[in-house]
Amino acid sequence: MASLPAGYPDQAFDAFAFLKSRTELSVEDMQVLAMIECFGEAFYLILAENVKNDEARALLTRNGNEERGHAHRLLKAIKLKSGQDYALPSNEENPFFKFAPSELKCDDDLMAALMQGEADGDLVYQVWADAESDPKVAELLRQNGREETRHGERVEQVKKLLAA
Ligand SMILES: [Fe+2]
Ligand SMILES: [Fe+2]
Repeated sequence: MASLPAGYPDQAFDAFAFLKSRTELSVEDMQVLAMIECFGEAFYLILAENVKNDEARALLTRNGNEERGHAHRLLKAIKLKSGQDYALPSNEENPFFKFAPSELKCDDDLMAALMQGEADGDLVYQVWADAESDPKVAELLRQNGREETRHGERVEQVKKLLAA
């Protein structure tokens, strides 16, 4: 099991809330954020499992796949900032997965929380990008942020599809 650096909450959403208080990300913060993004992938994929509507399921799966892409952009950012390669832990080794749900119900409350979380995610990625001195790293952070907004839009589409 990979361990979290001291001081980070051990649940993914709490750890993300904690990182929001950072104006500038350290390399260590980026490592934790990459593990949170992997958790985000799993969260969307678990959520998609119980969705009967094919189109809605595909949208949630796409969000999940892109969360994995966000983790990979963070690995690039870590390399640019530190010169070091950081290997993502497998999901089994990712400490946030101790608290991964085994199933999720795609209801209005959860979708509302996701839409809010994704919107906040974009905002905070832009804050981190603004503080970043390396323009290449900043652009990677901005790309992740922009996609978080798209994720929220997809969840909104899912909500409409499931209500229809
Ligand atoms: Fe993400
Ligand atoms: Fe997202």
